[in-house]
Amino acid sequence: MNFHVLTLFPEMILQGLDTSIIGRAMAKNIITLEAVNIRDYTTNKHKKVDDYPYGGGAGMLMQAQPVYDAWKAVVEKINAGKGKKPRVIYLTPQGKTFRQSMAREFAEEENLIFLCGHYEGIDERVLEEIVTDYVSIGDYVLTGGELPTMVMIDAISRMVPGVLSNKESGESESFSNYLLEYPQYSRPEIWHEKRVPEVLLSGDHKKVEEWRLEQSLERTRKARSDLYEKWVEENQDYFIKKAKKEARQRKKEQKKKAASEKNTCIL
Ligand code: ADE
Repeated sequence: MNFHVLTLFPEMILQGLDTSIIGRAMAKNIITLEAVNIRDYTTNKHKKVDDYPYGGGAGMLMQAQPVYDAWKAVVEKINAGKGKKPRVIYLTPQGKTFRQSMAREFAEEENLIFLCGHYEGIDERVLEEIVTDYVSIGDYVLTGGELPTMVMIDAISRMVPGVLSNKESGESESFSNYLLEYPQYSRPEIWHEKRVPEVLLSGDHKKVEEWRLEQSLERTRKARSDLYEKWVEENQDYFIKKAKKEARQRKKEQKKKAASEKNTCIL
């Protein structure tokens, strides 16, 4: 997977992604990251890349020419005249909201180009010509597209085979099945007078799995009822099995109670 970022602040991108798991994946060449300075492509002799918007209004706009030429240089380098054009993601609050399913889909691409806007945005004409995907990372406004780009590159990279070790694998995590993650504990067993839940020390894997699923469900129900409902819809059998198990348990307890009452009468 090769990421290409068109930006006015290349050092922000390179420094922001150079550590931890993503840094390791880059060192291993599983992913590559190139940050292209849009300013290097302006034909303006003062290196200007922005101007006032026609019709008036607050702030400045990034002009079409440097953005287009930076994009063209990257595409020509990738394609060397062949193959399909890579997808171009423009980060904007007006875009489709970024989700795990999108991260998975983008992870299938060989090349991705990110376009980071600044100031009040970018001249619409160049967006129309080069952008394939308009993406937002949430309902708030940031000062530029660099942080959203880093968020997306991080989330997409995790889905690229070989980036996570088996131990770190994304499969059992939040959103892979709509559920938020269960709470986790490490040593010591008691910290600030708080005990690790007994079931996790029991060594009973089945019980641990059941407890974790219950915790996940409860967390999701409380924090994200939208996700919880989706899970419920797709996992009706879980509730049927649970109800049957509880009914069996109740019956067993009733039998036990009846037997002990009988014993008491005989005595
Ligand atoms: N640029 C500014 N705010 C943004 C957001 N919320 N998502 C993506 N790009 C942005």
